[in-house]
Amino acid sequence: MERDEILQAIAAPLLAWYDKHKRTLPWRGTKDPYRVWVSEIMLQQTRVAAVMPYYARWMEALPTVADLAAADGERLMKLWQGLGYYSRARNLQKAARVIMEDHGGRFPDTREELMKLPGVGDYTAGAIASIAFGLPVPAVDGNVLRVAARAAGMEGNILDPAVRGEIRAAMSAAMPQDRPGEFNQALMDLGATVCLPNGAPLCGDCPLAGICEANRLGLQDKLPVREKKQKRRVENLTVYLLIRGGQTALRKRPDTGLLAGLWEFPHVPGALGEDGAAGPLAAWGLTAVDWRRKLTAKHVFTHVEWHMTGYVVQVRGDCPEFAWVDRAGLEALAVPSAFARFLKEAGEALP
Ligand code: ADE
Repeated sequence: MERDEILQAIAAPLLAWYDKHKRTLPWRGTKDPYRVWVSEIMLQQTRVAAVMPYYARWMEALPTVADLAAADGERLMKLWQGLGYYSRARNLQKAARVIMEDHGGRFPDTREELMKLPGVGDYTAGAIASIAFGLPVPAVDGNVLRVAARAAGMEGNILDPAVRGEIRAAMSAAMPQDRPGEFNQALMDLGATVCLPNGAPLCGDCPLAGICEANRLGLQDKLPVREKKQKRRVENLTVYLLIRGGQTALRKRPDTGLLAGLWEFPHVPGALGEDGAAGPLAAWGLTAVDWRRKLTAKHVFTHVEWHMTGYVVQVRGDCPEFAWVDRAGLEALAVPSAFARFLKEAGEALP
């Protein structure tokens, strides 16, 4: 069979499998576009199991697009804390405000209008259009690329936008007109539970085994082809867990860029040794009373890795940039997971 023919043959067995094996997920069984949208944004870069509690809390706190548009920014960051990629949460609110102000609170219902919302790209627009509005639009994520590349035996690099475009077009042609949302979600479920990555697919359980080229030719290990991305930049940081009278110092990050607007432990560039680490304290107007502990931590973002050297220091003095918070204050502010190691340490250092 030709590539497009194979992909057109997947719908019937795939949907029959989905009807029996679909995962029960809290955002399924609704066509409320707000709920579909929030779940899809949370599920970007994040596993289903990790998303579940966040989704439940979010929906309880902000059940409608109007609630989201009106929500306090700190509260939003708190609801998102730990999920990572915080621009997703900020874009959700920006888009909610666009929906309230430019669309009179009515959710846009075409792929083109959805794509104009902040944070909504090709994949998310396809997911909302198909799941909430029943439109025959593909939603091609990593799972779908893997299933399609294996089923059709496509050897192109799936990190190449041209190859992704081809797969998208082929999926569009393969889409059953009567069940587009279920077709897309069936592909996601198959990718997540059967057509597993890293050479470990469960072909014995797969409804597509009989038509799959990778299965026929034993290419499950080779497909999809993902040519290496460029390496991440490493940034060394020296981070201070400053202790003063039962409180610790946080400062607010700038309003733009990585982790914009979140709270962080004060830090400076470079991996400073014990000798060098006193310099920044003096520059902040602080005096070390007791150097308690040195620790290290690493956090991996999409394009950067932070390699952190940390010091727990008891200090005197003040710096106008800092907010001093006790344990409850620390828990109330949104501190990104990049500083998880320091939050844990603060748990031990604060009364
Ligand atoms: N991953 C992203 N979106 C999903 C969905 N709607 N169902 C299951 N897994 C997903």
